Formats: sequence, structure tokens, C-alpha cells
Amino acid sequence: MIFGYNVEKIRKDFPVLSKKIIYFDNACMSLKPLSVINKLNEYYNEYTACAGRSSHSFAERVETEVEKARQEVGKLINSKHSSEVIFTRNTTESINLIANSLGLEKGDEVIITDKEHNSNLIPWLKLKKEKGIVVKIAESNKDNTFNLENFERLITDKTKFVSVVHVSNLDGVENPIKEISKITHKNNALLMVDGAQSIPHTEVDVRKLDIDFLCFSGHKMLGPTGTGVLYGKKELLEKLNQFIVGGETVIDSNYNDYKVENIPMKFEAGLQDYAGIIGFGEAVRYLRKIGINNIKKHELKINSLITESLSDLIEEGKINIIGPKEVEKRSGIFSFNIKGMDCHNVAKMLESSKKIMTRSGMHCVHSWFNKKGINGSVRVSAYLYNTEQEAITFAEEVRKIVKIV
Ligand code: ALA
Repeated sequence: MIFGYNVEKIRKDFPVLSKKIIYFDNACMSLKPLSVINKLNEYYNEYTACAGRSSHSFAERVETEVEKARQEVGKLINSKHSSEVIFTRNTTESINLIANSLGLEKGDEVIITDKEHNSNLIPWLKLKKEKGIVVKIAESNKDNTFNLENFERLITDKTKFVSVVHVSNLDGVENPIKEISKITHKNNALLMVDGAQSIPHTEVDVRKLDIDFLCFSGHKMLGPTGTGVLYGKKELLEKLNQFIVGGETVIDSNYNDYKVENIPMKFEAGLQDYAGIIGFGEAVRYLRKIGINNIKKHELKINSLITESLSDLIEEGKINIIGPKEVEKRSGIFSFNIKGMDCHNVAKMLESSKKIMTRSGMHCVHSWFNKKGINGSVRVSAYLYNTEQEAITFAEEVRKIVKIV
């Protein structure tokens, strides 16, 4: 029992759980607590307006609420200034913003890993095609953990940028960001971290880890869909080129030229998803109240229970785990295949028998699966509201499926 952690109490905050589902697809989309849903409705019911334009009281309220959300997110990652938090639609948009604003040129080198989500692969491959940049892939160890030597060997004086996933959506493995950051900076390159799967589940301090840019999504951390963040060090964001431009991104313009806005507005073009941003702020408040570390411990407990319950089948090779065998290296993710079964069929059977919702397929990491010659996996991803009983039910259902193969 984690001190003060009451999963039954937490579950009452999530209206959709009344449907008696076992929701294990949190790495894709988290459920939303009532406080977040109420906060979204509050914007629509009480002060629907734009921020940064009009001067009436609704507009002032939106500005106050958006700034509160920005500060809440800033506190979560320990940014120095709230203006270092740029709101976007999702991690993908944040990464695209950076990739398209760095001004990379032919021959410049970018290093990523062999486990990147398409969001942190395709933007660089596109620049390779269009601009002739060089994309280098750092190979993982055999057990899918990060190999620092392989990474360091790739760095040259042409390396301008390193962009790595923090926690993999494929298998839950956490990469050693502090060490990666030291090596990157020693070689005068910049570091971006894809935090889509880390920020919702593990404490991240951008200053302690010395991260230059960090991208993550609201929808994986109890927030509304269509909300994301790009964090960047102030001095870097100030120098960075703009990506999408238009309303709010300029202080002034004439028919020939324009004067660029300050951060964060410089990067937040057009009318924003104010309700979403304000709801996202509420989600962060909720998570901080429970404590990210408590959530992390809880998820590991759920994953340990699953892994232990199925250990004999894993030993016998009837179940293959994607990633390391040791559960403590996989955080809240149990990604697996049943020998002789298609992953999508397994996922469908789990839902039709006990309403267990997982994700099956390549999880947008096609490159890794294609290289390994695997068609995909079934992925369980736990979060704060999953129970030990759910873990046991899941393991029992998997055991039944193994028996019928
Ligand atoms: N990145 C999300 C997932 O892994 C979509 O499910």
C-alpha cells in the first residue's frame, strides 16, 4: 500500500469508469476526471472568449485562466519562467515546430534512437528528404535499453541536434536523459526530449536534467485531447525561428514587414483551444495533488502483478515480452505477444470477454517492428486508477487465451 494512495477514491473521480471497463490503454489516451470536464464546461458556460485581443471581462478571465494553466504546467516540470511553456495541440506538433524552426541545413546531423515514435522520426526524415540533413539512429541494447556508447559514438562536430524519447511507448523503458544531456552539451549540440510517456508518469525537472526542449501531450495525462506543450529554455525560444505565423504571433505589421511577438505568443498562432488549455491546467493540478511519484509506484505495482502472474508462461516462451524481462525497467507498460496468435485478435478477445481495453499493433513505432520482423504487440499501459484486481483479471484472461492456442 502506497501511503495515502486510495485507488477506490481516485476511481470515483472518473465518470467513465462507471461503465465497468478495464481500461489499459493509457499510453494512448488517459481517462478524464470530473474536475477537468467541469473546467472545460466552465469556459463554455461562463466566459467563452479569446485571450490577448479583446479587453472585456470575459477576455480578461480567459487570459487569467490560461496563465494559471501555464504556470501549473511550468511548476510540474520546474521551468524557470512560465513563458517557457508554449501550448500546442500535441507532442507531434511540438516536435514539428522545433524541427521546422531550427534552420537546419544540408549536412547537419540529427541523432535520434531506434525506438522513436513516428512523431520523432518522420519530421527528421522529411528534413532529410527536403533539406539533406543527416539522420543518425542510436541503436539500443539487445534488451531494448539505451546504449550510451552507441549514442556517443554517433556524435561528430556536425551534430546539431539530439532528439530522444524519454520513456518508450513501445515497452516503457526510460532513457538516461541526464547522461544523454551531458554528452550532447559537451559536444555543443542541443537536446530535445519526447516526454509524451514520461511527464504523465514520472517526475521530470527540466533544470536538473538540463533539457533544452521538452514535448508532451495533455491527453495522456488526464487533460483534454488536442492539448500539448513545447517547453524550451527562454534564451533558445527567443532565438528560434517561428513556424506557424499569423494572429498573435506579431506585435505589429505593415504591407512589407512585421515585428515578432515575445514568447510564448510568438509560437501560439491564431485562436487557441482555450477550454482545452484551461482543462489541461486542471489536469496538472489534479495529478500534482496525488503526486506523480505515488502514481509511478502504483503503476509499477500493477505491472509487477501482471508480470508475476504470467511468469510461468513467459518462462515457457508462450508469452513474449517486448523490452526487458525485469518489470522495474518497463514502468507501467506490459507489451507482449502470445505465441501463435495475432495481436489484434488477442486484444479483441480481451475486450469481448472482460471489457479489457488494450492497444494492439505497432504503436506508431513501425520502424522498430519492421526491423525486428514482428507484426505488432498487445500493449497494456497502466495509470493511477487501475486496480490490482484488474491486473489479476487481465492475467487470468491471457492465461485462458494461451490455453486455447
Ligand atoms: N503514442 C500513442 C500510443 O503509443 C498514440 O498509443
